[in-house]
Amino acid sequence: MEQQALLYEQLADELGGMIAGRILRPGDRLPSVRRLAHEKKLSVSTVVQALRQLEDRGQVEARPQSGFFVRSPPPSQNLQLAPHTHKRLARPVAVDINHRLMDILALNNRKEMAPLGAALPAAELLPITHLQRLYGIIGRRSGLLLDAASHTAFNHPDLVRQLVRHSLAWGQPLAADEIVITNSCTESLSLCLHAVTKPGDTVAVESPSYYLMLQLLEQLGLKALEIPTHPRHGISVDALEIATRERKIAACLLMSNFNNPLGSLIPDQEKKRIAELMAARKIPIIEDDVYGDLHFGPDRPWPVKSFDTSGNVMLCTSLSKTLSPSLRLGYVAAGRFHAGLLTLKTLTSGATNPITQLVVARYLESTAFDRHLRGLRRACERQVMQMSEAVLRYFPTGTRLAQPQGGLVLWVEMPAGINSSVLFEDALHAGIALVPGDLFSANGHYSNCLRLNCGNPWSPRFEEAVKRLGALAAKLALRGNPGERKR
Ligand SMILES: Cc1ncc(COP(=O)(O)O)c(C=O)c1O
Repeated sequence: MEQQALLYEQLADELGGMIAGRILRPGDRLPSVRRLAHEKKLSVSTVVQALRQLEDRGQVEARPQSGFFVRSPPPSQNLQLAPHTHKRLARPVAVDINHRLMDILALNNRKEMAPLGAALPAAELLPITHLQRLYGIIGRRSGLLLDAASHTAFNHPDLVRQLVRHSLAWGQPLAADEIVITNSCTESLSLCLHAVTKPGDTVAVESPSYYLMLQLLEQLGLKALEIPTHPRHGISVDALEIATRERKIAACLLMSNFNNPLGSLIPDQEKKRIAELMAARKIPIIEDDVYGDLHFGPDRPWPVKSFDTSGNVMLCTSLSKTLSPSLRLGYVAAGRFHAGLLTLKTLTSGATNPITQLVVARYLESTAFDRHLRGLRRACERQVMQMSEAVLRYFPTGTRLAQPQGGLVLWVEMPAGINSSVLFEDALHAGIALVPGDLFSANGHYSNCLRLNCGNPWSPRFEEAVKRLGALAAKLALRGNPGERKR
């Protein structure tokens, strides 16, 4: 056994050395498993183990049906996004983005647009056929599903069991009796905000923050207090601590695992600090973990919820980014807010469709889910890398990028003065969707930033779209103060 371990590590080191020495270069295909086994006189399983280790070290990637390829290194240090500096604690502000955002989303969704707008994985990366088959089988065999009185029968026990099983790797698994199955992560977030706030209250949010969260605050008459957020390590806990001392905060909305749009990941010790701080101040945390399973590192990061000892964290998520956004299936692990959430869920939409609950339960209990997630994670990481390389190739000098640690979007900061709302309009005419940066802030920050969806396998279409965007951005840079242009 020890000899075996040594052999695969030796092979991983040998190949890793060739990559570091640029004998094998980014994009090069490694010899096939069979050939390596033959040449090195090793077993196939030893070679596979060596390649998996190189994959975990981030040096190679597996491409379905094609073999292992050398990965590109991350952008050099000076092209990475610098942390946003906020000199003073921001004030809570009313949010006003709904109107504009709804127009932008509708325009982005037109069929002919290159889909760099909404954060969605391509259908070809999702197990659609498998899910369709399950809908057929369950429809035929579970006749009672359509005549059950389901208005208040919220959770299918099989699904709850699978969700708890899936959380076993998170340090502290979810409790079955705190779960409320919902119609999406959007519904989960909305129910949680309804449960713990009233109009006029202040909610602490990351900056930048996912626009739908800001929309929800606007809809509920809540104020947003933007907390500085590091592009790699997430929300500044020091700033959050000061905010909780200086302001009355009703709740804190967090994306600890892969903030949308930054892709940042809060380190474990900071997650623990946040859980303790908010519990001590009795400020509920609403944690959005919709991207938690799309990690680029070897391990599934724990949510803040794993560090919660008093039921103060409501964990919200869905299967929209991993199985299909059309399922409209999510849940809240609501901690001490469970009873209140159940009432709100009844009044909002009753129980969640039991057929879909059972389909997802059957999928999660099969071995297919883990295999699918492994492939999807690799695809997202590869696509984010390909998008990053293309942006650096085609955008004006001075453009910087976030370095996502997971998820499927890329945050791009263009040189100051290039207004991404104007770029959005030019891109629209060129048939390219994107989301302008200022929609991720209640204070109108980030007007020179934009978010690109990386959910699609790379192709000449996307290369061309990014090239075109880069040229449009360069034109705006030359024109100067483009924010002044008449709309
Ligand atoms: C951070 C985040 N939360 C929630 C959602 C919405 O998820 P759902 O489709 O389940 O409503 C998205 C979708 O882009 C998202 O990025």
